[in-house]
Amino acid sequence: MDLTRVFAPDLFDGKTVFVTGGGSGINLGIAKCFARLGADVAICGRTQEKLDAAAEELRALGAKVSTRAADVRDMDALSAAMETARDELGPIDVLVAGAAGNFPAPAEKLSANGFKSVIDIDLLGSFNAARSAFEQLKETNGCIIFISAGQAFMPYAMQAHVGAAKAGIDNMMRTLALEWGRFGIRANSIVPGPIRGTEGMKRLAPAGMDDKLAKLVPMQRMGEVDDVGQVACFLASPLAGYVTGSLVMADGGMNLPGSGVWAQVFGEMAGGK
Ligand code: COA
Repeated sequence: MDLTRVFAPDLFDGKTVFVTGGGSGINLGIAKCFARLGADVAICGRTQEKLDAAAEELRALGAKVSTRAADVRDMDALSAAMETARDELGPIDVLVAGAAGNFPAPAEKLSANGFKSVIDIDLLGSFNAARSAFEQLKETNGCIIFISAGQAFMPYAMQAHVGAAKAGIDNMMRTLALEWGRFGIRANSIVPGPIRGTEGMKRLAPAGMDDKLAKLVPMQRMGEVDDVGQVACFLASPLAGYVTGSLVMADGGMNLPGSGVWAQVFGEMAGGK
């Protein structure tokens, strides 16, 4: 879809969007949607080479881009990346807290450290991002978009770690919406469905599953990264100026029938055991 036929092409001119985990996948897709509508974009992630490659793609869309490697688990590194973004692009108007880690694992085989790794990346990392961006967002009356998942409100087999982390993110999102509304800061979460070609899908579904999975989604198709990016642009736009504390589904209805869809996928991965 040509976003500029739906939104004003200069909707985010002069705005700074900071995306954690913006080097690839859904997060890079979100960053590109903002770039198409005039935003300047800062991305952070663990690998500078990945950020450099993503920055090229964003510059090709006309964005000024700031990159700095930072693991969201490391508050000092993340704060430094946000300061660099501010120096290079101006204060942050939109924070997309999207950095995440995932792997399917049955709870009885998941180590304490495996559980903690996902909690640290997803939940602590999202808090770190929001906390580090607070002063800049207060200055701009900006907004935060968290990336949640169906696991947050529904038990998915082999996702005890991810469900706990994402449920924590959504509760925190609502708390921040409650606390920071008086600073003019809005906070919302997006729940993406199965998005084609992303790292998350590679980890959660065996190769070649796309067509089968698509048939299990009420909308009868896999999602594209733009399906999530478009919602992020809406949430960051003045159209959503009174929307805060919301969980917005961009999943083609995938979570409506419950997590049985995924039980089927994981069952096949485990060889039907
Ligand atoms: N099954 C079970 N346990 C696993 C696992 C798997 N597939 N992958 C990692 N773990 C465990 C490790 O065994 C380790 O626990 P241990 O010390 O008890 O052995 C723990 O998780 C940490 O692993 P490590 O590789 O050191 O963590 P990391 O911080 O380098 O990486 C992950 C974090 C594990 C989340 C990794 O998958 C990652 O970096 N993911 C980022 C990208 C991603 O997942 N994108 C999709 C988002 S939807």
